[in-house]
Amino acid sequence: MNYISIQNIDSLEKWVKQALKIKKKPLKNKKLGKNKTLGMLFFNSSLRTRLSTQKAALNLGMNVMVMNFTTEGWTLEFEDGAVMNSGSSEHIKEAAAVVSQYCDIIAIRAFAGLIDKEKDNAEIVLSGFLKHATVPIVNMESATGHPLQSLADAITMAEHKTKHKPKVVLSWAPHPKALPQAVANSFVEMMQLQDAEFVITHPEGYELNSEITKDSKIEYDQNKAFENADFIYTKNWSNYNEYGKITNTDSNWTVTAEKMKLTNNAKFMHCLPVRRNVIVTDEVLDSENSIVIEQANNRTYAAQVVLQKILKSSP
Ligand code: CP
Repeated sequence: MNYISIQNIDSLEKWVKQALKIKKKPLKNKKLGKNKTLGMLFFNSSLRTRLSTQKAALNLGMNVMVMNFTTEGWTLEFEDGAVMNSGSSEHIKEAAAVVSQYCDIIAIRAFAGLIDKEKDNAEIVLSGFLKHATVPIVNMESATGHPLQSLADAITMAEHKTKHKPKVVLSWAPHPKALPQAVANSFVEMMQLQDAEFVITHPEGYELNSEITKDSKIEYDQNKAFENADFIYTKNWSNYNEYGKITNTDSNWTVTAEKMKLTNNAKFMHCLPVRRNVIVTDEVLDSENSIVIEQANNRTYAAQVVLQKILKSSP
């Protein structure tokens, strides 16, 4: 079993329930991972994903090896048949096969380059490991998805929702750097598995991949989208159509206390890290409606439910 995308979840409701059970007794399955090793390979920076996934593995009694691949590993070649007479020192074929001998599960973080849409959509790094590794693979944020984050988001919403069918708004907000669409993509996919009134709001032109958003509602008027919302989930992403470009920096899209007043006393969510007073004002982030710290805490239980399922399904 791999955990590559939200589509790998057979029942979101069941997984969320299991995660909440794990949260109550995180050390209950301490023996499950005995003598098993999680290898965590980072091609990009991380705080939450690194520490929460490591914590989850430790809660299950696993050993953990972490490698910052970009700074510590050999530069990898992913193309079949490549003549490796320039930058790359090692082919994914050997690298993935070798790491598979040291680890029982390999978790990988490899962001979008945001230069070549086709290449990013092909998930070169993740696909390379999936093809050549011989052990289960976990996606710790790839070019197009961050399914550990959105599972944690689902857990957090389950804890905070006060009605069966809440209104949930995914709102774009400005950011000075070009960011991938991965978090937003997985959030959309996760919301499509929920019974909720789900609305995506962003400036015109900032549409996400339509193969992911499918028939999810898009509202270009942020104020209108916020009306009566129960959850505001804010995230920046760079332009998907004009791939990887920043075509809008309008600070009118920053989430403010005034905008939050349009909602049904909504909870404020963000995956973190967040740029204060660019994405969201201090007032909102520091308010009692902000649940971003609890959301980050739930990253551990999201990772733990995933690792637990993989361990149980492995020989
Ligand atoms: N939300 C999230 O993935 O955080 P990190 O990038 O710090 O891991």
